Amino acid sequence: MNILAIETSCDETAIAIVQTNASMNRMRVLAEPLLSQIALHAEYGGVFPALAKREHAKAIVPLLKTALTEAGLYHPKKVRQPLGSKLTKKIQTLLAREENTSEELINLLEYMRTPKIDAIAVTSGPGLEPALWVGINTALALSSALDVPLYPVNHMEGHMYAGALISEKNAKGETVLSFPDIAYPILTLLISGGHTELVLTKNNGKHTIVGATRDDAVGEAFDKVARVLGIPYPGGPEVSRRAKLMRDSGVTIPKQDQFPRPMLHTPDFDFSFSGLKTSVLYRTQKIENMTDEIRNTIALDFENAVTEVIVKKTMGALEKYSAQTLIVGGGVSANTEIRKRLTESISEVKKTIYLPKPKDATDNALMIAVTAVKHIKLGKKPKKKVIANGNWKISKT
Ligand code: KG4
Ligand code: ZN
Repeated sequence: MNILAIETSCDETAIAIVQTNASMNRMRVLAEPLLSQIALHAEYGGVFPALAKREHAKAIVPLLKTALTEAGLYHPKKVRQPLGSKLTKKIQTLLAREENTSEELINLLEYMRTPKIDAIAVTSGPGLEPALWVGINTALALSSALDVPLYPVNHMEGHMYAGALISEKNAKGETVLSFPDIAYPILTLLISGGHTELVLTKNNGKHTIVGATRDDAVGEAFDKVARVLGIPYPGGPEVSRRAKLMRDSGVTIPKQDQFPRPMLHTPDFDFSFSGLKTSVLYRTQKIENMTDEIRNTIALDFENAVTEVIVKKTMGALEKYSAQTLIVGGGVSANTEIRKRLTESISEVKKTIYLPKPKDATDNALMIAVTAVKHIKLGKKPKKKVIANGNWKISKT
């Protein structure tokens, strides 16, 4: 079965095509092109929904053609074969708000042989609604044109399943993904630019959020701290790189000088990062002659504080819910220090941890494709109507 997945929830336009085996436990990656808008948003210090939407609309059809070509599924026709007025009208209506996208899509479809795609998956939330709609409307149009089922996917569930994938190369050098056998219940730590959640998953695929941030998400805190320190968006990786420089050169912060560890000792599994971010702001404002060394020390102190809270809460939740396995997902799971500390703590209690490869931690469409495979395996039904749900909780999937 060939599954085509589309992701446009934030600032990456991504399409992936995977081919599953008959039992749907192995997936060959046929294509995974991605176009990042990060450089564009960096100028404004954050992601602007209207700009993100416009860029997705510009990128999506060319990216679709690239994906089909990479997958060996693009076969052009010399002579145009009209789609028929009903389908043409439907695509035009669906993509009426996306400049040029409907014309480009109709043109692509009229000049190629129907590609062998058996199902389509699309991120329908959480995320920026204007951005989500571009992917959803394109997916709806494609699903009609190719006459294949459409599966809406929760972006955070995508990060979860992507966190626990086994990735191998076959004899042809192609990437083959599989799901490991994991004992339930599973605890997942989801840390991204918009979310910080601890999620418990039972063997029927049902998720419960057992802890979450009460204000800023951890990636958001990294990005805001970066901005305070004058580091461009998205500053998370750079804050982390600077912290590592100091740590590697043996710098430690005396206890009395450290930033607070918010909610470290509360008995629940919730988080709060907005106070920590404010502490960074106040300390920075007091410094008259800012140097790179001071910036890096602040980065170190901040990253240590975040890591300590995340590790303590996660380990507490694992124990309370008797989970043997921890999956970590979301953009911040690329963070070296958080990965290292979690891995050490998990090994001390002899449990298992799954972390995505750092390059697969941030948004992509492969995570949406593999989640659709999980759903199809679990017998979930495709949807005729799909809408963008900016706040779609993983517990409501
Ligand atoms: O999952 P993601 O790509 O997008 C969302 O769904 O939010 O996560 C992006 C977030 C950004 O806030 C970025 O600064 C953060 O992940 N991030 C990191 C690192 N790599 C990405 N934060 C800290 N350390 C990193 N190495
Ligand atoms: Zn994400």
